[in-house]
Amino acid sequence: MNVGTPFVRPALSIAPMMDCTDRHFRYFVRGITGCSYLYTEMVSTAAIVHGDRRWLLDFDRCESPLALQVGGSDIDEAAKAVAAAEPWPYDEVNLNVGCPSDRVQERGLGACLMLRREHVARMVEAMRANTAKPVTVKHRIGVDTLDRYEDLVRFVSVVREAGPARFTVHARIAWLEGLSPKENRNIPPLRYDDVYRLKRDFPELDVEINGHVVSLNDADEHLQRVDAVMIGRAAYDTPWIFSAADSFLTERGIAGSYGARETCSCRAEVIERMIPYLERRHRAGTPGRKIVRHMLGLFAGLPGARQWKRSLSGKLPDDCVPILRRMLEELPHESLIEPADDPPPCEDGTTQHGCRPPTDGAAPTQSYRKRADEAAAPKG
Ligand SMILES: Cc1cc2nc3c(=O)[nH]c(=O)nc-3n(C[C@H](O)[C@H](O)[C@H](O)COP(=O)(O)O)c2cc1C
Repeated sequence: MNVGTPFVRPALSIAPMMDCTDRHFRYFVRGITGCSYLYTEMVSTAAIVHGDRRWLLDFDRCESPLALQVGGSDIDEAAKAVAAAEPWPYDEVNLNVGCPSDRVQERGLGACLMLRREHVARMVEAMRANTAKPVTVKHRIGVDTLDRYEDLVRFVSVVREAGPARFTVHARIAWLEGLSPKENRNIPPLRYDDVYRLKRDFPELDVEINGHVVSLNDADEHLQRVDAVMIGRAAYDTPWIFSAADSFLTERGIAGSYGARETCSCRAEVIERMIPYLERRHRAGTPGRKIVRHMLGLFAGLPGARQWKRSLSGKLPDDCVPILRRMLEELPHESLIEPADDPPPCEDGTTQHGCRPPTDGAAPTQSYRKRADEAAAPKG
């Protein structure tokens, strides 16, 4: 991104997810998509103010474009947290107003803040006063009995006065009592129309839709009606769907400021790219399992998926590099070298194959390549 130009965010993002979108997952997924927008897990404002900031906030530059998501309810604390995080080169600070977990509710943050729209507006104001970065809000279409479209409009009308740069709307109500967070992501019905209508009624707002988007085809549909699409669980469970994301975004001119960057052309390259990362992290004391646990979905739906998952689960040594090297030898080569997915065609019918050159230009000396060449050679 050119210094000095205003930041334009890409129209496709991977949702903030606790225990999932930590820096290791983000590093991993950058091997698959260079331009999709990433979020941290929610970091509490109290932790930023009182905790070990480097541990909480450091990230690798390849993770950009990246938004820091914070969770809090105290206005002063939110302001202090944002000011304290300012030296880190995040592209945005996002406020979590969508999480319905009991623990989060006990602290008065997350989805229950939807009941306090004026307070959310004050929080956004205070955050904006303490950062040069865009401040955005992620919320639900409603909460408990505030479940009508008119309630959503009331929330957005009040909060927009504080000038958030975007509303990311999870298209389900959150029920604060009686449902677990997991149930709250599945049971309240999806109401995409409310989000579309919000964009129609407030065309000047930047509106991102979220909730059960599982493919780029789905995302393409939503993008006819809203500005951006956020994908959560499908990105974590089946990350390869993002192998077509960069072509998808660049072909449509919605890749944002950072634009296209080189990514891996097949899953084997994703694994190879992770090996030096694991080695570096191992030397710094991070057990490999904390990293490879985020890679379990890499082969989802392909031959070898079960073997891959089994090898990276259970009791693992601190150094997981030998396991990855072994997997490069043992997994079916068709799965290892299957190219990036094709993106859905643009409206004009064009499409560009998503397969891109290797990230490091390394000579193809890996044995999975040799095996691939052997398999391709005429038999007999
Ligand atoms: C394991 C998990 C952790 C989550 N943690 C957060 C979080 O920290 N902050 C947040 O705003 N939403 C969180 N969410 C909600 C997601 O960001 C997203 O809104 C939700 O999963 C719906 O999108 P999806 O249907 O594409 O998964 C989490 C979801 C999951 C599955």
